Amino acid sequence: MAQTDQRDAAATAPSAAPAAAPAPGEVDESEKGRRVRGIFQKIARRYEMFNALSSLGIYRSWLGRVARLAACEPTDRVIDVAGGTGDVTFEVIRTCPPASVELTDFTKEMLDVADEHIAAGAARGVPVRTRVADAMALPYEDDAFDVYTMAYGLRNFSDRELSMREASRVLRPGGRYVALEFSTPTNPAWRAVYNVYLGHVIPFVGGVLTHDRAGFDYLVSSIREFPPPAQIVRELEQSGFTSVTCHPCTGGIATIYVARAR
Ligand SMILES: C[S@@+](CC[C@H](N)C(=O)[O-])C[C@H]1O[C@@H](n2cnc3c(N)ncnc32)[C@H](O)[C@@H]1O
Repeated sequence: MAQTDQRDAAATAPSAAPAAAPAPGEVDESEKGRRVRGIFQKIARRYEMFNALSSLGIYRSWLGRVARLAACEPTDRVIDVAGGTGDVTFEVIRTCPPASVELTDFTKEMLDVADEHIAAGAARGVPVRTRVADAMALPYEDDAFDVYTMAYGLRNFSDRELSMREASRVLRPGGRYVALEFSTPTNPAWRAVYNVYLGHVIPFVGGVLTHDRAGFDYLVSSIREFPPPAQIVRELEQSGFTSVTCHPCTGGIATIYVARAR
């Protein structure tokens, strides 16, 4: 079942002052927010092909781990943030179907692709509603969800800690936060191999598939500049989470952060 709500309103919301936090129902209009949204608007239709080719399918095993760590119960209300074309949502549904999912993203074009997947049966009977929403100003009540999932969102936010405080606000006490993000391997040999892949393979495959090499150069620098897991753990603890754990994937190319809302 697919429902769409407030999409046009949010997509055309008046611009907030640069760098100001977006109000509920508006999206980030800071320079970084506009730039990130512009990239995903352009690549939405080729995003999944890029992911599959550039990661040689490895990212699917990371998604499986996210879904297992989310460990949804049949009564759980889930919010998938920066959910894009729905990969995390559909993997969660395949692994441990919850009661419902709010699949949110601030790029309408990515959600359009998710809606097509839902129409083709990817939600397997679980009610999934797509909604344009900014991770830093979620248009939901306090304590509205049992589980918050996210993949590749944190590095794109103009205010990461604000997104964490929003996550903690919309989760009920004890609710689970599960977020996947790229990280840098600590083993020097593996890091050197990974750096070649990051600096050459990703911008090349991305540029060929989407004709937006500059966009992929930006995405690569956002991966390189992303802080180490210990800092993300501290930020989560300062933002209202407890029992924070890190789960490195493929030698630390990515890390899954799991935490409980207080
Ligand atoms: C790399 S994609 C990941 C999509 C999906 N989670 C997946 O695993 O395939 C990053 C997504 O984050 C979204 N995004 C970036 N900043 C956002 C924000 N402030 N609020 C909501 N979504 C955001 C982008 O629109 C994009 O769809």
